[in-house]
Amino acid sequence: MTIAIDGPAASGKSTVGERLAKALGYLFFDTGVMYRAVTWVALQRLGSVEDEAAVTRLAEVVQIDVQPPSQNDGRQADVWVDGDDVTWAIRRPEVDQWVSRVAAYPGVRQAMTQQQRRIGLRGKVVMIGRDITTVVLPEAEAKIYLDASVEERARRRYLERKARGEEVNYEEILESLRQRDHLDSTREVAPLRVAPDAIVVNTDGLSVDEVVQKILAQIN
Ligand code: C5P
Repeated sequence: MTIAIDGPAASGKSTVGERLAKALGYLFFDTGVMYRAVTWVALQRLGSVEDEAAVTRLAEVVQIDVQPPSQNDGRQADVWVDGDDVTWAIRRPEVDQWVSRVAAYPGVRQAMTQQQRRIGLRGKVVMIGRDITTVVLPEAEAKIYLDASVEERARRRYLERKARGEEVNYEEILESLRQRDHLDSTREVAPLRVAPDAIVVNTDGLSVDEVVQKILAQIN
């Protein structure tokens, strides 16, 4: 069985997806990490993400390696790009700022989607992202759309970053989430939307446990 979860930034997909995967003994795969990795490499090697053709070429050749977490410091996976450990670098605000631009490039999406589909078709996977229920794995047996208000999502991101000792500003996080929501849901290729057969779960005011139980009940 394959479980596909989509939803806007910070709607709880990774926490919930990881818990579901653990409960079922499945692989947890966060596709956002791949778009973040391409964005990070583009910023490093090209200095910006403006040149669509150059970013697309990078996406086609870059080696993104996602492994189970090696440390118990809140990370959900170890992420390597061409031999560099980018686990935390891909969570930086400059990546947040540019990732939705990169993710809107059709050639980048094609390269990422192919790899994700290969992983998903092996089964026994919980895959999370923006287009998993609609484009990457439309045949998934369970399709979930996780939602929450933008204020609640900004609050969660703020607390997460603060706990990691980063300097954070709530208003900036809120604005950055709003911008990403807009870009992700209005792009031409594979925009974020609710699949017709997805179960919508609003996580406002619900604990992680409650959300996981709700989804497990639906799946069963
Ligand atoms: O999930 P996360 O916030 O880490 O994703 C980062 C960005 O990657 C999203 O804002 C979106 O632009 C892009 N993304 C995507 N399709 C996916 C996963 C992520 O376009 N399947």
